[in-house]
Amino acid sequence: MSTNGSDFIVVANRLPVDLERMEDGTQRWKHSPGGLVTALEPFLRSRSGAWVGWPGVADAEVEEFEEEGLRLYPVSLSAAEVRDYYEGFSNATLWPLYHDVVAPPVFDRSWWESYVKVNRRFADACASIAAKGATVWVQDYQLQLVPQLLREQRPDLRIGFFLHIPFPPVELFMQLPWRTEIIRGLLGADLVGFHRPGGAQNFLWLARRLVGLEPSRGAVGVRTRPGVVQVGDRTVRVGAFPISIDAAGLDAIARSRETQARAKQIREDLGNPKRIMLGVDRLDYTKGIDVRLHALHELLAEDRITAEDTVMVQLATPSRERVEHYKQMRGEIEQVVGRINGEFARVGHPAVHYLHQSVDRRELCAFMSAADVMIVTPVRDGMNLVCKEYVACRYDLGGALVLSEFAGAASELTSAFLVNPHDLDGVKNSLYAALTVDPAEGRRRMRALRRQVLTHDVDRWARSFLEALGSASPN
Ligand code: ADP
Ligand code: F6P
Repeated sequence: MSTNGSDFIVVANRLPVDLERMEDGTQRWKHSPGGLVTALEPFLRSRSGAWVGWPGVADAEVEEFEEEGLRLYPVSLSAAEVRDYYEGFSNATLWPLYHDVVAPPVFDRSWWESYVKVNRRFADACASIAAKGATVWVQDYQLQLVPQLLREQRPDLRIGFFLHIPFPPVELFMQLPWRTEIIRGLLGADLVGFHRPGGAQNFLWLARRLVGLEPSRGAVGVRTRPGVVQVGDRTVRVGAFPISIDAAGLDAIARSRETQARAKQIREDLGNPKRIMLGVDRLDYTKGIDVRLHALHELLAEDRITAEDTVMVQLATPSRERVEHYKQMRGEIEQVVGRINGEFARVGHPAVHYLHQSVDRRELCAFMSAADVMIVTPVRDGMNLVCKEYVACRYDLGGALVLSEFAGAASELTSAFLVNPHDLDGVKNSLYAALTVDPAEGRRRMRALRRQVLTHDVDRWARSFLEALGSASPN
């Protein structure tokens, strides 16, 4: 056991930076994709913590290193583990299962074995660098066994766990052959956090049902009461902590002269159309990118809008490209984009600008500042940070947000144009309403949205989680 290691450690599947191997044999670090890194990185940098995670490529043997005040501890995965633990169990079993089975989850025993083995490696890495009594904050669905595995080695630690994706309804979770092991894994934490109260409720019910009835077989008795699971004499707190963004940071970038000049340039590059619609997502089948494309297609076909006055931009970060559902969905999205442009574009003026690329933070703010309507239509999303980022960028009270009711953020952003992504007519009508909103009504809505986002930022989220963890009973 370390006695002078790190006092505060985040452990997540990915490090905040990904190793990129270039064709000429050199390598460089780039920003990692996804909402988890967006949310946690600014907070952790301000605390000079340590971060344990995978460098994003197979077989990378990288020593620990310091990056802008953060101590990074790489955990290596072999090519087979990337296939079985990451692409397999994490992203072809748990991801679809936890997102309401919008795609069929695959249950494969060898993937599960790999998940256990890799979770053990992450737990070992934390155990070896944590100072006595340190706080370890375990992140997301890839590492649900880590709390228990870590507690077995280091009962002195204070362990928190936060799930960044939805926690599914009980009937769906019960499909998982390894459901009891996962619940036991999570119960190793002192505090288990979810985005929404519904996730916490599901977890409490499952803890009671799956591990609550076994003391007669020599196991520790487990009892639940609201917000608490009692595991023998240990108390595990369970609660909802809706995540957010560095709202003030984005607001400041959006206000800068450079961002505003870049936004103007983007509008010009797009041919100065009357209205610009924007989508920004990882290219993931839960994000409903197809929903918004179908809505746009029908609005154009019905002449309610024209490709001269309304242009759509879709920025889509490449994601999990070797997983089958992702490959299939990419093909489908690119086909619809091609079809819309085939029918409605003019030479030099596409109706949809589709970029299968990631852009940097400043460029993202410029796109958000340039967009009249931000469209966020996931069929299921734990929170969704993109919608909050858009609101943070609109200090001018301009722009309108179309948001799926199935994103966790919908319960906070009630002044958005809320849509059911399964109801195409409803999406079309709300999109049209957002595109043609009366400016005073648009400002009223944006003001209300900004009040929520600017007062509930990522710092507040992290502090509320860590305060609750701090008050969880030490062992
Ligand atoms: P998830 O965690 O499922 O990817 P979120 O909406 O919570 O979804 O977070 C996504 C994060 O990734 C946001 O910070 C968003 O700005 C960023 N992002 C998504 N697509 C792009 C893109 N094409 N370029 C740059 N950033 C992107
Ligand atoms: O919160 C969703 C999430 O899966 C994070 O855990 C992850 O870091 C991010 O999206 C991006 O996904 P991936 O790491 O699989 O590229």
